[in-house]
Amino acid sequence: MKNLFLLSLSVLLFSCNKKKETFQDVDNEQIFVYDAHEAKELMEKHCYLCHNPIADEVTGRIAPPMVAIKARYIDKEGYNKTEFIKAVSEFVNHPTDDKSLMYGAVKKFGVMPKQVFPDSAVVKIASFMYDYKIDSPEWFASHWQGHGNKNWEQSGKEYVPQVKEKTFADIGLEYALSTKKLLGKNLMGTIQEKGTMEALAFCNIQAMPLTDSMSVKYNATIKRVSDKNRNPNNKANAEELVYIEQFKNEMAANKESKPVIVDKGDKVQFYYPIPTNTMCLQCHGKPENIKPEVRAKTLKLYPQDLAVGYGENEVRGIWSITFDKKK
Ligand code: HEC
Ligand code: HEC
Repeated sequence: MKNLFLLSLSVLLFSCNKKKETFQDVDNEQIFVYDAHEAKELMEKHCYLCHNPIADEVTGRIAPPMVAIKARYIDKEGYNKTEFIKAVSEFVNHPTDDKSLMYGAVKKFGVMPKQVFPDSAVVKIASFMYDYKIDSPEWFASHWQGHGNKNWEQSGKEYVPQVKEKTFADIGLEYALSTKKLLGKNLMGTIQEKGTMEALAFCNIQAMPLTDSMSVKYNATIKRVSDKNRNPNNKANAEELVYIEQFKNEMAANKESKPVIVDKGDKVQFYYPIPTNTMCLQCHGKPENIKPEVRAKTLKLYPQDLAVGYGENEVRGIWSITFDKKK
């Protein structure tokens, strides 16, 4: 009877309050059992887009590297593992400047855009950051000392990467995420430095050529398509529409979508969702929330524009990538 009560209580806690779920997870010792490889992959997939460890110190950075967050929270603030996981989860769930400890970063890059990540991904990522040595840019140790801190040596165990053969899904994901990184870095960098109007011009002129340059680099056909496309060349075909629908359902259920692989004889067709975050809404949000000059310019460039009306964490479109089976 008691068990039944506990069970229904936890179902209640888990189902009605998203925020509580994270804390519930943290208090539950189960959470400390996680797969390090999975956690690292989650971090590369969800965080490196902005917190890129190989970006140059001076140019090309749109957010601090993850190791800077680790140093600030663990070495300076003295957080233990539970406090660290809790602080990172709380910030990611609701990034605001009053919760921020990295004032310099907020000033330089603006507050982190609010994004929704799949269930428990952030807890796993934070656990991994705490337990293991994570990728650190070469410049970081001297940068840290330059800010008046003592000598810095990263805490945690050595991480030994898993050796495994790449699947078609891994290959497609690599193409999609590196293209996303390239576009995202340029887009966020332009917004931070020059504002939304300039960024709109950037997307208009550069999105296609940058995407095409990655097609050439990987000898693949890389496209971003949508059911509500802005550029007429990005209209989804019948097969793509089916997967857009599937990804929408998964996202609504807060499920981590897996890449879809469709066999096309000698070739492989890869699909993967492109979710929105708050930043995207500057140009893809509800028309009444978009700055009038941005909306007017968009309509001038794309009179048939369908790509508005989005909220955060919705499927803006998908990666549709074709590549040869034989590499
Ligand atoms: C779209 C870009 C973007 C993505 C993706 C992103 N972040 Fe951030 N994040 C930022 C920026 C910009 C900052 C620096 C400004 C700030 O601190 O808010 C930041 C800062 C942070 C901070 C420090 C907060 C503080 O100021 O004390 C934490 C913690 C953080 N991110 C966690 C994450 C995690 C975990 C992920 C992946 C699950 C992630 N971020 C993905 C842009 C991003
Ligand atoms: C500064 C304005 C701006 C912002 C911010 C912006 N976009 Fe776009 N987006 C555009 C423009 C302009 C195009 C059309 C590009 C072209 O002509 O190739 C576009 C096209 C796209 C496309 C290709 C499909 C289509 O509709 O043509 C996708 C997918 C997309 N954006 C996703 C996003 C996501 C996800 C974000 C946030 C991470 C985002 N965009 C943020 C302006 C923006």
